[in-house]
Amino acid sequence: MAFVVTENCIKCKFTDCVDVCPVDCFHEGPNFLVIDPDECIDCTLCEPECPANAIFAEDEVPEGQENFIALNAELSKNWPIITNVQDALPDADEWNGKEGKLELLEK
Ligand code: SF4
Ligand code: F3S
Repeated sequence: MAFVVTENCIKCKFTDCVDVCPVDCFHEGPNFLVIDPDECIDCTLCEPECPANAIFAEDEVPEGQENFIALNAELSKNWPIITNVQDALPDADEWNGKEGKLELLEK
């Protein structure tokens, strides 16, 4: 099992999560982060750090967002590792909690 970044990270990208990960499994895209499921050791540290509550254990991903499990696995193979906290995206607070952001995901 692994932890999974879900829809509410899109267009927020607060990056608090990367600071606590002991095995550097976060990968960064233009407006979203993903977790490499092959590297995640299920330490649970990142989940409470996300201001957008976007991180879930694989078996607790909210209904309707199961597709993010495969998306994390896929995109983590292509995107570079991120280990340092960055500024959140502009308007992150406005996008936090909005629904239907999947179509705004930039790959
Ligand atoms: Fe990293 Fe732990 Fe989060 Fe997995 S659960 S992504 S190992 S901080
Ligand atoms: Fe995204 Fe939350 Fe990390 S918004 S970048 S999963 S802190």
